[in-house]
Amino acid sequence: MSVGIDAIAFSVPQFYLDMEELAKIRGVDPLKFTKGLGQREMAVATPCEDSVVLAVNAARNLVAHFEVNPDEIGLVIVGTETSVDQSKPISVYVHEQLQLSPNCRAFETKHACYGAMAGVAMATDWILSGRANGKKALIIATDIARYGAHTPGEPTQGAGAVAMLIDKNPRLLEFEVEKQGYYSKQVMDFWRPNYSKEAFADGHYSIQCYLESLAGAYNMYRETAGREELSACLYHSPFVKMAQKAHVRLVELQGENDFAEKSPELAAAVRDYANRVAPYLEINARVGNIYTGSLFLSLINLLEDGLPTGASPRISLFSYGSGCMAEFWTGLVMPEAQRWMKRHPFRQSLDQRAKLSIPQYENILEAAGQADKEGSEEICNPSRWGIHDGFLYLGNRNHQRIYQNLLSTSSTKPLAALSAP
Ligand code: CAA
Repeated sequence: MSVGIDAIAFSVPQFYLDMEELAKIRGVDPLKFTKGLGQREMAVATPCEDSVVLAVNAARNLVAHFEVNPDEIGLVIVGTETSVDQSKPISVYVHEQLQLSPNCRAFETKHACYGAMAGVAMATDWILSGRANGKKALIIATDIARYGAHTPGEPTQGAGAVAMLIDKNPRLLEFEVEKQGYYSKQVMDFWRPNYSKEAFADGHYSIQCYLESLAGAYNMYRETAGREELSACLYHSPFVKMAQKAHVRLVELQGENDFAEKSPELAAAVRDYANRVAPYLEINARVGNIYTGSLFLSLINLLEDGLPTGASPRISLFSYGSGCMAEFWTGLVMPEAQRWMKRHPFRQSLDQRAKLSIPQYENILEAAGQADKEGSEEICNPSRWGIHDGFLYLGNRNHQRIYQNLLSTSSTKPLAALSAP
């Protein structure tokens, strides 16, 4: 049976920050952020755009754009490391907003940036086992990546969600399920304790852990698959340059040879990155890290743009979750994939965002610390942030989160209220 991704969509917050402007205010050479890390823009979520809002919007986009019948969904898994509650999962809000059948499993998974990939793996096996009884699985990756102002991680923040429908005979990408590699190890590279809204990272060590995990997962994959031709290689991309580091390591692993600095082999691997990886990182460069969904943003990029003419349809997907867990998969891009994606070019939503000034961005970071607390309705009031419609988080009252679908009644310019204290 063929199983894979039948539909995919994303959602991003309504505002973004320009990375050059952030670098200048932090007294850093802008080239460090744009070339050294590879980031151009960073999505910033206001207090009324939490991980539930992003998840629901991505799922709604998927249902609308791919003409999915919600009655056919029998499983909803939300992968996140920006959970809004220690008990109540984001999946039930999605279930309610999409008006899914009550006879549907809905739950949340967590393992840093791997959480949604875990959902994809579970859903794939659920369908392959024959227990899905013709139903489809909705997997959502939703996150707000925050390290805080003036931290080394600040330029690698971001926010957004990706929704995917896993089904048999998929329209977009068929998984090669018999060839998979995975790897796990306890490491302290990146974490977010319960008392903190912001993540902690041992940044350079986390890069090392990522690359070791790639080796562990790829070597297991190769035992079953051998060395195969891959037309494109997609990676978890907390920042674009990480994908370049990962790809160079993959080429080393394939050739069982570690490249010396400034060697011709290293230069060739970087050129290969420019052909097989970089073209699919434009959305990542404009959104930033969205943790669980970052790998799948690159997939959307690839499915929209299509592979080069005549290329083999086989691509690879590498998921990394700090802590750590990694998985290396391959899949075949379906012939009709680009036609489906082109019907609704998702990238347009990036152009519709409004740019924040640095003080506005810092205002949002400060307010984010208050947004989940009891009595946060004033802080989360959408009009305070210049937002007037959509499905939004309105704050916490009586220890319960309030969400509402607002309809715009105002033509106020989106940024008008953002300078509010
Ligand atoms: N012009 C061009 N390039 C420049 C430059 C300039 N003026 N100045 C610096 N650079 C380059 C550096 O050479 C470096 O590139 P290389 O790694 O290729 O040498 C790059 O810019 C970054 O410079 P630094 O390493 O000096 O930057 P930093 O120490 O401030 O921190 C970071 C970088 C470790 C990624 C930090 O942003 C961080 O901690 N981020 C969060 C953790 C993270 O994303 N880890 C990734 C792996 S873990 C994971 O994947 C899970 C997850 O999602 C978090």
